[in-house]
Amino acid sequence: MTVGAVVIGSGNIGTDMMFKIKRLSTGLHVAAMAGIDPDSDGLARAKRLGVATTASGVDGLLDMPEFAEARIVFDATSAGAHRHNAAVAAAHGKLMVDLTPAAIGPYVVPPVNLDEHLGHRQRQHGHLRAARPRSPWWQRFPA
Ligand SMILES: NC(=O)c1ccc[n+]([C@@H]2O[C@H](COP(=O)([O-])OP(=O)(O)OC[C@H]3O[C@@H](n4cnc5c(N)ncnc54)[C@H](O)[C@@H]3O)[C@@H](O)[C@H]2O)c1
Repeated sequence: MTVGAVVIGSGNIGTDMMFKIKRLSTGLHVAAMAGIDPDSDGLARAKRLGVATTASGVDGLLDMPEFAEARIVFDATSAGAHRHNAAVAAAHGKLMVDLTPAAIGPYVVPPVNLDEHLGHRQRQHGHLRAARPRSPWWQRFPA
């Protein structure tokens, strides 16, 4: 059984993240993608892959069962949008992985300090800032 992950932001980084999870992860599945541009290529690609989508941003996720069952949220929007996204994810008990430059939460460079943040502190804060992964290190998130 894989852990559900939601991607917010249907641009280059969010779409790349979606494909990396789908192609490389044995521990996660993409439960949903949220954007704000209904005509975006990223949302269209997600739909073609059978991923649940919303063009109403993080708020559009709230009534979706796919969001309810997801445990991890990757935010690939903008630093400004991230503040609201982070607050919503925290209110719903999700682990947020921030790919934007918002600079909230501990900075994680996976080869250097991922283990440090997969323990108690990470669970407490529920928020990581991370570089876009080149390898599927996020498979190591605790199930
Ligand atoms: N961590 C990294 O290694 C890394 C590398 C490059 C870029 N980034 C960051 O990733 C983010 C995305 O970069 P990109 O190149 O994909 O940009 P982009 O402009 O291609 O994509 C951003 C997407 O977010 C959507 N969006 C904006 N506000 C939103 C909201 N409130 N809710 C949902 N969707 C929203 C936009 O419609 C757009 O589709 C930026 O913050 C960028 O700085 C991070």
